[in-house]
Amino acid sequence: MSYALPRRAVLVAATLVAAAAPPRAARAQETSRGAYLAIAGDCVVCHTVSEGAPFAGGLKMATPLGAIYSPNITPDADTGIGGWSYEDFDGALRKGVSKDGRRLYPAMPYPSYAQITDEDSRALFEYFSKEAKPVHQLNTRNEIAPPWNARWPLAVWNLVGAGSPFRANAAFDEEWNRGAYLVQGLGHCGACHTPRGALFQEKAMTAEDGAFLAGANLDNWSSPNLRGDLNTGLGRWTTAETVEFLKTGHNIHGAAFGAMRDVVAYSTGNMNDADLAAMAKYLSSLPPSIDRKQPLWVEDSRDAAALAAGKSDRPGAATYLRQCASCHGADGKGGGGLPPLAGNAAVLDPDATSIVNIALNGAPALEVAEGEYGDAMPQFRTFLDDRAMADVATFIRSTWGNRAGPVLPGDVAALRKATVAGEDHAIIRQMR
Ligand code: HEC
Ligand code: HEC
Ligand code: HEC
Repeated sequence: MSYALPRRAVLVAATLVAAAAPPRAARAQETSRGAYLAIAGDCVVCHTVSEGAPFAGGLKMATPLGAIYSPNITPDADTGIGGWSYEDFDGALRKGVSKDGRRLYPAMPYPSYAQITDEDSRALFEYFSKEAKPVHQLNTRNEIAPPWNARWPLAVWNLVGAGSPFRANAAFDEEWNRGAYLVQGLGHCGACHTPRGALFQEKAMTAEDGAFLAGANLDNWSSPNLRGDLNTGLGRWTTAETVEFLKTGHNIHGAAFGAMRDVVAYSTGNMNDADLAAMAKYLSSLPPSIDRKQPLWVEDSRDAAALAAGKSDRPGAATYLRQCASCHGADGKGGGGLPPLAGNAAVLDPDATSIVNIALNGAPALEVAEGEYGDAMPQFRTFLDDRAMADVATFIRSTWGNRAGPVLPGDVAALRKATVAGEDHAIIRQMR
């Protein structure tokens, strides 16, 4: 093969992490309630830069109006939120209003956090005002130019975009409601997985609305449908398989990559099994939203046979055999820790952004709390031009029984320009 696999480096890194990470049970004991909630809310992922001190802020986040930088939320009195009262903190967390009355951009997921209970908001305050390590680090000024930097339009935006408190659904049991609370609220899964409306607000915030978690595109990643859709959602996943994915980033259906990698590495991968089971139970109850009428994916083994015999002359087939089949198999089934492409919901997603992004830029192996790791997916940006990439992406979307739309060279070109190979935000080793 023409590329060098960083496999050795990956193994070494995984071993170091495994050695540094105390066993899960030991960690659970020293984790306070607030610290655990901060994990469930994934506060670290936005409020920390790669290799930076946890929660000290400074992460650059693109918005349609310009870049903004996440603030320092450590207890440091000068540069963090050390002097804040509970009311100040809670206003930022659940209503999106900072201590000085400034409206926060919804890059801070307060519309979802609005569902956090008073009790949990207080526990988070305890953690961020007393337990977290104070770090002296000045905030970076946002780069939104006047007049767009005025904050008052956000008050208007809140008329459509703000969330509301969690309401339990009596039709379901306690475990389901725990899952709903975590997914809709702290986990802010909808921030990436729910389609956005005209004002960039999430179209739905709760299970009761069919648009909730129906799939969306954000920051050059498409987040698939998490509803009961059989081909493009979680309709074929058991709850145990969903738990496994959230805990380890892998299961027989696929692997976590792109924006989902950070979610597993810093949030769900460190949550307890009871909470993950509750989230899986809740997700499994969401009715399908888009492919209700599509026939269930079934494997078509003729394609694998033709490929293995070198008899497929469809565009993309030769590239697939040369560049991809050694890991994903002529039958598209992956195996040995490598994800399948046949029947994979991300591959079948009507929006091909995520699979083109990973094929262009690759994905480092995923490290999770217990030191488990997968393999790395190499980048093909420097080996395949837009046409070859479009052909191979179209090929995997229309082989082995997969029936998803074509990818065009122009789609690849746009994504190639908008992304960088191997860009991997936040390897926050201090957290482990
Ligand atoms: C998806 C990214 C993201 C996540 C997750 C996130 N935040 Fe934020 N947060 C931001 C951004 C960005 C801002 C600043 C917004 C602005 O400048 O208008 C912010 C602002 C804040 C502020 C206001 C600070 C100030 O100086 O005004 C607090 C407090 C805060 N976040 C706490 C939290 C807590 C606690 C969590 C976890 C429960 C959390 N955040 C999770 C992105 C995030
Ligand atoms: C050296 C092995 C290897 C090769 C070669 C390889 N991949 Fe991958 N691929 C992986 C691994 C490992 C993952 C999972 C990455 C992760 O855990 O985030 C992956 C993930 C993917 C995914 C996302 C699926 C999912 O659910 O995780 C797609 C799509 C994909 N590869 C397409 C391709 C294409 C197209 C090619 C050829 C152009 C290719 N791969 C070549 C190892 C490989
Ligand atoms: C920052 C954006 C982001 C957030 C927040 C997020 N996800 Fe994801 N998620 C993605 C992306 C992008 C993918 C597609 C890549 C992949 O399959 O890993 C994905 C994929 C998934 C998948 C695999 C779906 C499939 O069919 O292959 C599951 C399950 C999932 N997410 C669950 C969740 C849950 C539960 C939460 C909340 C705790 C969540 N996600 C929060 C971006 C996000």
